[in-house]
Amino acid sequence: MTYEERLQNVAVLGAAGKMGSGILLLTAVEMADLSLQPENKGKSFVLNAIDVSPEGLAGLMKYLREQVRKVAEKKTVWLRQMYANRDDLVENYDIIDEYIFDVLNVVRPVTSMAAAYESNLIFEAVSENRDLKVKLLGDIDKNSKNNPWFFTNTSSVPINLIEGDAGLDGRIIGFHFYNPPAVQRLVELIKTEKTGTDVVEFAHAYAKKLRKIIVPSNDFAGFVGNGHFMRDALHGIKEAEALAAEKNIPLYQAIYIINKVTQDYLVRPMGIFQLIDYVGVDVVNFILNVMNPHYKDEELRHELLEKLMEQGVKGGQYSSGAQKDGFLKYKGGRVTAIWDIHKQHYVELEKFKDECDEMMGDMPDSAVAWKSLLRNKKKDELLTTFFNDLKAASTLGSVLAVKYGQRSKAIGEKLVVDNVAHNIDDVNTVMLTGFFHAYGPVNNFFD
Ligand code: CAA
Repeated sequence: MTYEERLQNVAVLGAAGKMGSGILLLTAVEMADLSLQPENKGKSFVLNAIDVSPEGLAGLMKYLREQVRKVAEKKTVWLRQMYANRDDLVENYDIIDEYIFDVLNVVRPVTSMAAAYESNLIFEAVSENRDLKVKLLGDIDKNSKNNPWFFTNTSSVPINLIEGDAGLDGRIIGFHFYNPPAVQRLVELIKTEKTGTDVVEFAHAYAKKLRKIIVPSNDFAGFVGNGHFMRDALHGIKEAEALAAEKNIPLYQAIYIINKVTQDYLVRPMGIFQLIDYVGVDVVNFILNVMNPHYKDEELRHELLEKLMEQGVKGGQYSSGAQKDGFLKYKGGRVTAIWDIHKQHYVELEKFKDECDEMMGDMPDSAVAWKSLLRNKKKDELLTTFFNDLKAASTLGSVLAVKYGQRSKAIGEKLVVDNVAHNIDDVNTVMLTGFFHAYGPVNNFFD
């Protein structure tokens, strides 16, 4: 089966979810682009968007429409060539509207799993539950005559376990996108000992068409990306607890401080508590629960996360993409308050922010903002100056930041020692391209 034939009938499971919708968008665009090539004229391309939630699927179609418009606006020259024989498409907006129609025309939103029985390629992006994944993939395989390939987006379950339990020998691979899939350039690729070379070759070809960067990970629970993120998040939670005890301040104030340290002082796109909310407190907790039994020498769980879940504080996003409240409360994309786990309500930032900022001390004048660094040719120079100034300072904010940077580096190094990542470069690439960091965790800044 050629690359094009494989992509003529595809299914995405969990298509209305956060990761599923991004995978669906990227795949729909790739399939529509193939269908527009002169050599594929007359061939059908079908993308089954499968999800249990009809409301979620309605939201998905809205998301697709908005995002495909942005995609189209960036490639009007190519689209003009593809639609060259269409005299009715004159203005750019005619061409863009036609392309949105063509991409959406590929997509079949359905709630029935049976739609996947005809597919050659299945992307699995359902919730992080091994039994559910095994059942769905096993059922599809039993009912399909196509010997389909399974690309699972699991963020933690070892692929060989799904492969064995669902009886998919050689036809499954971990193809792990990062959130949001349309933005983050990383795909972690996890082979099992049995994954076929043809599956791997296709995975590389498909990732290349999507302009993604592939980093291989060995098949250990959590892989490289969550191997780092989960430990970094647990460190953040423990640091907040220790700070609250040491300074005798409420935990919500310590959470504010650690979140600020991990965003502004460490020059990251989001603070660690904001990132937990973004991924979802519940999702982080699920991932930890999957990882924990696989790492006997570490305790990869934290009761604070369980407590938040019990209190109904889960983070994650609405289908519109807006952030739900978690550790932090959001209004119009801005943080306005922090959850008080003891009194079970949000405390407005204005009540304690100035006091905490004063406790942290001033940031060095050399401080740089994450966004300003992304395309800055002097990035390394600016970071070196800033982090050297941090190391020389004795304010609470700088001390916490240097300690955090050192811990983050140690986590990255251990991923190589534990044979999860092949090498340090891979660890750094994962954090640069999957988490949009401005620098890799294993660096000379925090020696
Ligand atoms: N779909 C499509 N595009 C999106 C999007 C989405 N869901 N969310 C954001 N974007 C686009 C915006 O439209 C914007 O595009 P333009 O530049 O063309 O306007 C661009 O991304 C930047 O967005 P914003 O300007 O709104 O905000 P920002 O600059 O702060 O970036 C962010 C937002 C990309 C989410 C950035 O904050 C970020 O990268 N944060 C870190 C996220 C992260 O760490 N992700 C990995 C989580 S772990 C994981 O995914 C693995 C797992 O298994 C749990």
